[in-house]
Amino acid sequence: MGRVGFAAAAACAVAACAVAAALVGRRVRARRRWWRAVEVVGEFEEGCATPLGRLRQVVDALVVEMHAGLASDGGSKLKMLLTFIDTLPDGSEEGIYYALDLGGTNFRVLRVQLGGKGSMILSHKVESQPLPEELKSGTSEILFDYIASTLKNFVEREEDDSQQKTDERRALGFTFSFPVRQTSVSSGFLIKWTKGFSIEDAVGKDIARGLEEAMTTKGLNMRVAALVNDTVGTLALGHYYDQDTVAAVIIGTGTNACYIERTDAIIKCQGLLTNSGGMVVNMEWGNFWSSHLPRTSYDIALDEESPNRNDQGFEKMISGMYLGEVVRRVLQRMAQESDLFGDATQNLSVPFSLSTPIMAAMHEDDSPDLERVRQIMEQNFQMPHVPLKTRRLIIRVCDIVTRRAARLAAAGIVGILKKIGRDGSGRSRSKSQRTSVAIEGGLYTGYSNFRDYLNEAVVEILGEEVARNVILRVSEDGSGIGAALLAAAHSLDR
Ligand code: GLC
Repeated sequence: MGRVGFAAAAACAVAACAVAAALVGRRVRARRRWWRAVEVVGEFEEGCATPLGRLRQVVDALVVEMHAGLASDGGSKLKMLLTFIDTLPDGSEEGIYYALDLGGTNFRVLRVQLGGKGSMILSHKVESQPLPEELKSGTSEILFDYIASTLKNFVEREEDDSQQKTDERRALGFTFSFPVRQTSVSSGFLIKWTKGFSIEDAVGKDIARGLEEAMTTKGLNMRVAALVNDTVGTLALGHYYDQDTVAAVIIGTGTNACYIERTDAIIKCQGLLTNSGGMVVNMEWGNFWSSHLPRTSYDIALDEESPNRNDQGFEKMISGMYLGEVVRRVLQRMAQESDLFGDATQNLSVPFSLSTPIMAAMHEDDSPDLERVRQIMEQNFQMPHVPLKTRRLIIRVCDIVTRRAARLAAAGIVGILKKIGRDGSGRSRSKSQRTSVAIEGGLYTGYSNFRDYLNEAVVEILGEEVARNVILRVSEDGSGIGAALLAAAHSLDR
């Protein structure tokens, strides 16, 4: 080989080495970035941990807050609102009743036919439609007008002219799933909006009267006989079929619970309450807060950027309105720190673009190659080539968020049971006493991973022996049907 040839060969070798070094370097950097993404997930998982000891602390904290909220208004972040419902429908109710259900993703109108003793609910019809987004921030007049029109159209479809032209003012059940300070079973003032609603002129107004005015304008001869929270409707239906039902929980767009409390434990209203038995209390548990809740930097950022900062802390960790958003925030951090999604990273930057149903669909993808996750990332975030190992990491994030939410909701349920002496910790009788809890809301009814985690955690906290007597029962359409039942039970009240 001549000198020139040698120099050329040496130059080639140097270049080849440089290319190889660059390749190795890129691979090392890529691997490092991948491990950073894994680390982000690991740190998040640690922050979300809900071991049994912590769940027990949450149970106890909830009980303390329940006592405080029952002792005085403003005594706790838990409002513990009175409902004035001291008897629940028992099956003797008879006739046709309508109900409205407002407060979740969908708006529902219902007609329920009750047969009286022995025959119970003869039939029911439910029409459901998504509530137009713009109604959530307009004026109360626009909202009530929409509700009254929808109800009127429904009644016209359901009944012939002779049925409609009755002189009698018909009793209506109105499920209004927001914090309301009740002044009676059939009236109450909106305290504040939750779940992204912001119709300012409705705050402080009597919700039932507002709706009645709109119904009168539309020529509907109806009055609100029961203004109830969705938890209360769910409890009414649960109790109608199973008298051991003592509490109801909603885990849908928002989350909340109500339960039957002894009247003498409701210290803040002793003068008001004459009945010595029990009364349904709407806890508004979405606003529960305790330092024992496992809160991460993602939760803090979500809260700070929300319109209701420092409010609904429990709800922001549990309910359908927020879970997908927490996942999005974690994926975004992974992308920023690891370049996992390349140029498409910014597609993850739109708040609430990863909804909880999308999250659930990814989480429930049990195909070996996670094809559904691939499709969702492609369709929703324009990321067509997410590799399998990244898809697995995405599922892990969904799992962490869902598991924490379900276990915290389980701790909430056990907290209620503990407050009313049904958690098996006191006298031996409560160990074998049958106790039912009615549950409604898409997260529990339609998302099996969530449901399994929640059921499992209840058993873990209570222990198998006690948990055997605690029945968690889905109460389908309970919030609306229950409102119709309550309207029937209270139709003669005024
Ligand atoms: C929100 C509301 C509450 C409702 C719950 C479930 O937390 O404030 O009233 O029961 O959502 O819909």
